[in-house]
Amino acid sequence: MTVPAAEVAAEEAFDTCLVVDFGAQYAQLIARRVREARVYSEIVPHTITAEELAARSPTAIILSGGPKSVHVNGAPVLDPAVYDLGIPILGICYGAQLIAQQLGGEVARGGRGEYGRTDCARVEGSASTLLDDAGPSDATVWMSHFDGITRVPEGFVATASSPGAPVAALEDPARGIYGVQFHPEVSHTPGGQAVLERFLHRAADCRPTWTMTSIIDTQVELVRAQVGDARVLCGLSGGVDSAVAAALVHKAIGPQLTCVFVDTGLMRQGEGEQVVETFRRHQRIELVHVRAADRFFERLAGVTDPEEKRKAIGELFIRVFEEASGGVEDARFLVQGTLYPDVIESGGGEGASTIKSHHNVGGLPDDMAFELVEPLRALFKDEVRRVGAELGLPDEIVWRQPFPGPGLGVRIIGEVTPDKVATLQHADAIVREELCLAGLEREIWQSFAVLPDIRTVGVMGDERTYGYPIIIRAVTSDDAMTADWARIPHDVLDRMASRIIAEVPGVNRVAYDITSKPPGTIEWE
Ligand code: XMP
Repeated sequence: MTVPAAEVAAEEAFDTCLVVDFGAQYAQLIARRVREARVYSEIVPHTITAEELAARSPTAIILSGGPKSVHVNGAPVLDPAVYDLGIPILGICYGAQLIAQQLGGEVARGGRGEYGRTDCARVEGSASTLLDDAGPSDATVWMSHFDGITRVPEGFVATASSPGAPVAALEDPARGIYGVQFHPEVSHTPGGQAVLERFLHRAADCRPTWTMTSIIDTQVELVRAQVGDARVLCGLSGGVDSAVAAALVHKAIGPQLTCVFVDTGLMRQGEGEQVVETFRRHQRIELVHVRAADRFFERLAGVTDPEEKRKAIGELFIRVFEEASGGVEDARFLVQGTLYPDVIESGGGEGASTIKSHHNVGGLPDDMAFELVEPLRALFKDEVRRVGAELGLPDEIVWRQPFPGPGLGVRIIGEVTPDKVATLQHADAIVREELCLAGLEREIWQSFAVLPDIRTVGVMGDERTYGYPIIIRAVTSDDAMTADWARIPHDVLDRMASRIIAEVPGVNRVAYDITSKPPGTIEWE
C-alpha cells in the first residue's frame, strides 16, 4: 500500500549521502544538516552491509556518533568492506574512533574525556580538506567523548587536536576517509556546517542540487507517474503537513484531486474558514467542506473521560470522512502527509504511515481501500514548511503550530459543549495574538489556552463573580517528546491575562502552567 516515491526519485535526481546510525541522538540532526548543504540524505542502520550500501549508490557516507565506547563488548561496528567501496566517508565522534580502530590506528580507553565547548587547534603544517586553512587556527567545537584517538591509521594525517583529544580530526584524502572527534552538526560548533560542507562538496564532490524547487519538480513528476489519470482524495486537517501534501499533489494533477475537510467544530477560532478560503479561493482546489460540528457535540454530550473523548472524536471523524469521500466516485488514491521522521520512527519500512497510535487520532484507518500517495515521505518538517511557502501557501498555514487531532476537545477538561468551545476559542485567540504581537510565535513550539472544569471566585467592580479560570500553556520543544515551559516575558503574560478577563465573558482568572515534559505532557488531557 505504501509507495516510497520520494526515495526512488532522490536516488535518480540528487546525490545521496547516507548517514549510518550508531545509535546517537544526533543521526537525524546530521541528516538535516546535510540537506541544508543541499545534498539529499537518509539514515541507515549500522547493521547495513557493504553490499547493501553500495546498492543504494550513495555519493558520500557519514558515520554518526554513538553512546558506546569502541572498547565495550558488543560495541556496534561497520562492515569493514565499506572502507573499500571507494565512497568518501566522514566519521563523527564514535564514527571517527571506529575508523581509527578498524583501519589500524589506536583509540585509548578513558582518559579524562571532553564534554561541551572545547578549544580545538590545527596541527601545524598539516594540509586539510575538512578544516579551514584560511581561518584562525583555533576554533571552538562541541565535544562529547570519553575515549580518544591516540594514533591515526596508516595513510591518515592528524589535522587538529584539543586538550583531551590528541587527534581531533584525521584525514586520508587519497582514500577519501575522514573523521572528526567533535560534533560538526550541533549549533554549538560554530564552524560545524562549513566542515560538513567541505566534506560533502569538496571531498565527496556531491552536487548541491537538493533545493525546494527541485524537490517540488521531482515530486510532481512522481505523483503524475503514480496516479495516471485516476481520481485522488486528500483529507485536510488544517495542519501544515496535509496542507502542503495537498498543494503539491494539486500542482501535479490539478482537478483530479478532491480534498475533504471535516470541520469538527473543535478547531481554533477562524481556522475552519481559513482552510476553506486558502484551498478553495487561493489554490483553487476542489474542496468538500463537511460542517459536522453539531454531530460532534451530540456525540460528546456527557463524555468526560479523556481517552473516551479521543476515541469518540476519532471514530466519528472517520465515519464523517467516509461518508463524504463516498461521494467522490472512483477515487483510488489517498494523499497522506507522512514525513521522514515518521518513516524513521516506524523502522523505515512498509507501513511507515502508522504513526504513534495516540497521535493518530483524527487520522484515517489503515484498511481504507486506497493506495497511498505520500509526497512528503522523504522530508523533514522544516523542508515541508519551505516547500509550502514555495507553493504559495500563506504563512498562517505554513507556520502553524502542531495541533492535536481531537482539537479543543482535549483542551476542555470535562464535558465539551458549544459554549465552552466558544469561550476557549476566544481566550486561545488572545493568547496567540499577543504572542504574535510580541514576535515570539516562531520560538515557541505550541501555545494555547486550556479551560478546566472548575469555577473560581473573583471580584469585578463591586460584584462578586464566580467564573471559569483559563490556563495558558506555552512550551518550547524540538520534537514534542520533551518540552519546557516557555519563559514568556511577564508583561506579555500580563497583557494576555488582562485581555482574557476583560474580553472573554465568564472568565475571571488566568494561570500560567510552568510544568515541563516530563513529568507533565504538553496537552492537559
Ligand atoms: P503530549 O500532550 O503527549 O503531546 O505531550 C505531544 C504532542 O502531540 C500532540 N497530541 C496529539 N496529536 N492526536 C494528535 O494528533 C492526539 O490525540 C494528541 N494528543 C497530543 C500534542 O499537541 C503535542 O504536539
